[in-house]
Amino acid sequence: MTTTLITGANKGLGYETARRLVAAGHTVYLGSRDPERGRRAAAELGARTVALDVTDDASVAAAAEAVAADGGLDVLVNNAGIEGRTDDNAVVGAAGTTAELVRTVFETNVLGLVRVTHAFLPLLQRSPAPVVVNVSSGLASLTRVTTPGTPTHAYPGVAYPASKTAVNMITVQYAKAFPGMRINAVEPGYTATDLNGRTGTQTVAEGAEIIVRMAQVGPDGPTGGFYDVHGPLPW
Ligand SMILES: NC(=O)c1ccc[n+]([C@@H]2O[C@H](COP(=O)([O-])OP(=O)(O)OC[C@H]3O[C@@H](n4cnc5c(N)ncnc54)[C@H](OP(=O)(O)O)[C@@H]3O)[C@@H](O)[C@H]2O)c1
Repeated sequence: MTTTLITGANKGLGYETARRLVAAGHTVYLGSRDPERGRRAAAELGARTVALDVTDDASVAAAAEAVAADGGLDVLVNNAGIEGRTDDNAVVGAAGTTAELVRTVFETNVLGLVRVTHAFLPLLQRSPAPVVVNVSSGLASLTRVTTPGTPTHAYPGVAYPASKTAVNMITVQYAKAFPGMRINAVEPGYTATDLNGRTGTQTVAEGAEIIVRMAQVGPDGPTGGFYDVHGPLPW
């Protein structure tokens, strides 16, 4: 039996990933910073739930203790993330980017991912087939962002792409440090969720596909890579 934790799974891509992994037979912990929203979502899916705010040391430590007490963890999906748009759903460009905005976005997308990974490492190391999926973005790709004529090149934001480039570097370094684990970064594609005011062009079913696939990778599968549904992506 494979036990899987997905952070930020009360809605969006995390929720859809939870749904699909429950269907695939995983015991799924649906992480949610709001316990009530987590309980509701878990009840809909037949999943377990654990209160987990990735920006909060005590919350993450308590979640790791709860999952450990129930028997451990095989798969960690670091999915929780924010884009840092304005209240009217505008992407903040370079001129409007403040240190405070970058701090807020990095606090969730980068420090949160490291905090959760660090807390659950001892459990993953006890698994016979540990897997980590870091939900990155195509906007993390320096190659794509610097290729004129692409939608990625046209994206004006600073904090969010920089945070996901950091996620990619963290993925590579962890994968080298833990060769017994399968640790990959994935790009779901532009998906209609609350993150982007539902402007994305894909459904959550399409977006979750690569997350679900990488969560099920076997011990001989890839590690230290960056993938979308079509295959490896340029860094
Ligand atoms: N949608 C896209 O086009 C797209 C493209 C590429 C990558 N991604 C990535 O996909 C992941 C999921 O995003 P989504 O599109 O599904 O967005 P979403 O619907 O807004 O879901 C984001 C999830 O993260 C949670 N979250 C935010 N801050 C948190 C915190 N401090 N602690 C715990 N959970 C927190 C949210 O919880 P609340 O409900 O409490 O806010 C929510 O459950 C993100 O990492 C995002 O960067 C999305």
